[in-house]
Amino acid sequence: MNLVVVSNRVARGKANEPMTGGLAAALLPVVEKSGAIWVGSSGRVRDGSLKEPFAEIEALGAGALAMLDLPAAHYGGYYEGFANSALWPALHSRSDLIRASQGDYLSYREVNAFMARALLRFQKPDTAFWIQDYHFLALGAELRDLGVTRPLGFFLHTPWPARAVIEGVPHHRELIEAMLAYDLIGFQTSDDCENFLGYVSSDLGLEVADGVVTSSFGKTRVAVFPIGIDPEKFAQQAAKAVSHPDVSRLRRSLNGEKLAIGVDRLDYSKGLINRINAFDRMWTEHPALQRTVSLLQIATPSRGAIEAYGNLQSELAKLVSDVNGRHGEVDWTPIRYLNKGFSQTVLAGLYRTAQVGVVTPLQDGMNLVAKEYVAAQNPADPGVLVLSKFAGAANELDTALLVNPNDIDGMARTIATALSMPLNERRLRWEAMMDKLRAGTIQRWFADFVDALQETRSDRCGPEPQLLVPPAPWPLRSVNSSSRYH
Ligand code: G6P
Repeated sequence: MNLVVVSNRVARGKANEPMTGGLAAALLPVVEKSGAIWVGSSGRVRDGSLKEPFAEIEALGAGALAMLDLPAAHYGGYYEGFANSALWPALHSRSDLIRASQGDYLSYREVNAFMARALLRFQKPDTAFWIQDYHFLALGAELRDLGVTRPLGFFLHTPWPARAVIEGVPHHRELIEAMLAYDLIGFQTSDDCENFLGYVSSDLGLEVADGVVTSSFGKTRVAVFPIGIDPEKFAQQAAKAVSHPDVSRLRRSLNGEKLAIGVDRLDYSKGLINRINAFDRMWTEHPALQRTVSLLQIATPSRGAIEAYGNLQSELAKLVSDVNGRHGEVDWTPIRYLNKGFSQTVLAGLYRTAQVGVVTPLQDGMNLVAKEYVAAQNPADPGVLVLSKFAGAANELDTALLVNPNDIDGMARTIATALSMPLNERRLRWEAMMDKLRAGTIQRWFADFVDALQETRSDRCGPEPQLLVPPAPWPLRSVNSSSRYH
């Protein structure tokens, strides 16, 4: 089978480049190995006719990476607009932050239709398409409109919220009906799956039996595929990275003090304000912990053109400086706060240096930082993971110290508990988590989804696809340089 993977953001095969978000970093090693073609945005836009997609193509492991320039007239409405100001807040149960105009919705649909046309170029008789994430809810329906009969899979990396929340998204009905063009829809957790199926049966009045929805498109299987990491590889990376200059400098600067670490995109779903408040509370309630533990919080700027993100950045900067001002000493800074991205190699070393990992989102699809923190630990002296029960990862990592990120006192107490946990208990908890990570690797996730996708249409695949739009002679260029990608 010839697999075409599609996501808005793609990654190039370089472990030492800063990564911006879970999806692209997680997919890179498996897509590289699989021989798939990975199609996504180039990060650039282009004026002109939407009928002429422009892609740069380069080799990626055994397959290829195709980066498309997206249509300039619709990019803002699609990315900053409908995808990240309507769908993202809704998917993370922040109805209060949903902003959507009719124009944004039309741009979102235009970009989905544009991507569908671009994908025809990569279709072969044995192709299956695997579409990733909320940027492309309607891409499957657009492909079917163009006459594509091949298997179409979709995986959502974010949570899927309760019915009342998704109903707050304009055009929700049209969009979710369009999603049923996919043969297989994967979610991170069974809660997400149940929420989705609840909507489909109650709002759309469709028949759902054993996780299979019957609609005018045919049958759609809905199932759970929790995404993982490669724990052994990450552990090796972490062990090596302790000698990386950034990591050694951090260790030297600690002078025997303990370290807690948080690594997040600067996003309101990550619960950063509550986390800083919890540390503030902890230092106030347990003054003995002042000077003995500090927090390294990496908050990588993200989607800065959107108002809610700009507001969060200012609020967080103010809060951090306030807390540092109140608890700090001439020779001690309680919170080391960094607004930049780090490579996976450096992050692995930073995780291993920290005695406590704090991953406390208000809502999160999976959260791979939680899994990476665990995999990075020294087996002889592992750190403790403090994890939000609202991250998908909490389903598997149930021997972490689970917290409610809205309960500031509870979080403050739990972080203090983590800091004083005896070695024996730390090892037992860590070993149980490592077993889970080894059982649910990213390789397993990829293989399970692709196997399930192949099965969905095996009984229904008709003759070779008859394309309504033949592959166009677009300007497809092969490039080697990596310097143009942002
Ligand atoms: C989350 C989303 C991804 C997204 C990433 C980074 O992980 O599920 O689809 O790529 O955040 O966000 P960005 O907007 O920078 O691509």
